[in-house]
Amino acid sequence: MDQTRSSHHDPYHDPYHEPVLRAEVVDLFAPVADGTIVDGTFGGGGHAMAILEAHPTAWVLGIDRDPDAVANAPSHRRLRVVRGNFADMASIVESVRSQEHEPPLPPVRGVLLDLGISSHQVDTARRGFSYHRTGPLDMRMGPDAEQDAARILAEADVDELTRIFRTYGEERFARRIAQAIVRARPLRDTTHLASVVAEAVPAPARRAAHPARRVFQAIRIAVNAELDALERGLDAGIDLLPEGGRIVVISYHSLEDRIVKTRFVAGARTCTCPPDLPVCACGATPELKILTKRAVRPSEAEIAANPRARSARLRAAEKLHAGATDPKETP
Ligand SMILES: C[S@@+](CC[C@H](N)C(=O)[O-])C[C@H]1O[C@@H](n2cnc3c(N)ncnc32)[C@H](O)[C@@H]1O
Repeated sequence: MDQTRSSHHDPYHDPYHEPVLRAEVVDLFAPVADGTIVDGTFGGGGHAMAILEAHPTAWVLGIDRDPDAVANAPSHRRLRVVRGNFADMASIVESVRSQEHEPPLPPVRGVLLDLGISSHQVDTARRGFSYHRTGPLDMRMGPDAEQDAARILAEADVDELTRIFRTYGEERFARRIAQAIVRARPLRDTTHLASVVAEAVPAPARRAAHPARRVFQAIRIAVNAELDALERGLDAGIDLLPEGGRIVVISYHSLEDRIVKTRFVAGARTCTCPPDLPVCACGATPELKILTKRAVRPSEAEIAANPRARSARLRAAEKLHAGATDPKETP
C-alpha cells in the first residue's frame, strides 16, 4: 500500500486521480440520485465522492479490480467499496446486498464506468504501466489478471505480438516492433521495453507521441483482457438497470469508444429484424435511449488543467424498459 496516502484524504485534492468530466457525470446521474450508483471503476473515488456530495440521497457501490484502490477508499456513510471486476457486477451487487444490514442499499439506478487506469496506477513505477518510469513488466490492474506483461513479452511469438500491437494498439509498425522484442529478449523492465520499441520504429514516427505509447496500451489491454471486460460490463450494467436507470461510460481510446457506441446503438434500435426482411417481424421496442448524440469531450480548460483528460469521450444512455430482449440474441 502507498504509505504517502493518509486515510483521511480529500479526494478533490488528492493526486491519486483527478476525475474527468466530473460535473457532466454528476449532472447525468441527477434524475436517478435517489438510488444506488454502481461505480465499476472506483479508482481514487473522485467521481463517487462528487456524486455523494452533490446528491444527498444517492448511494454509491464502488468496484475496482485493484486492491490498492479499495484499501485507499475514503469512508462515507452512503459508500461501499469492494474489489472485483465490473464484468461481474451482477453477482457483486447481489453479494453486497446479502451482507448489508441497516440501512440497506437502495435499488441500483445508475452505472458508471470510467475506463482504463488511474493516475496513481500509472505513476507507481512498480506497477509497470509507465514507459517513463523504470519498473517491472507487470501491468496487471489486479491479482485476478491471468498473466503479467513479462510473460506475454517472453512467451508470445512474433505473430502473436504483432496481433496484440495491431489490434489493441492500432500500431502501424506492429511487426517490426514484435521482431525487435523477440530479438531483444529477455526484456529487463519497462524502460528497456520502451527503448526497444523506440529503436524499432522509423525516425519520423519517433517525433510525435512517445513511440512506446501504443505498445504499452496494447500490452495492458491484453494483460487485463480489457475489451472483453468492457463488453461484459456493458451488458451486465444495462441488465442491472430498472426503467429510467442510467449508464455513463467514459473511454480513453477509439477501441473502447467503438465498443460503447456499438452497444448503445444496438440497444437503441427499434427493430432487430435482419435488414432483408420486407416488414418488421420482431416487434421489438428499444431497450435504451441514447442521451449523448455525440460523445461528450472535455473542454479546453479541463484539458489544460488535466492533460490526461485529452482523449476522454463520454457516452450515456437511459434504460427504457427492463427485461428487454438481448439485441445479440435476436435473429
Ligand atoms: C480511470 S480510473 C477511475 C478513476 C475514478 N473514476 C476516479 O474518479 O478516481 C479506472 C479504474 O478502474 C479500474 N478498472 C479498470 N477496469 C476494471 C474492471 N474491469 N473492473 C474493475 N475495475 C476496473 C482500474 O483499476 C482503475 O482504478
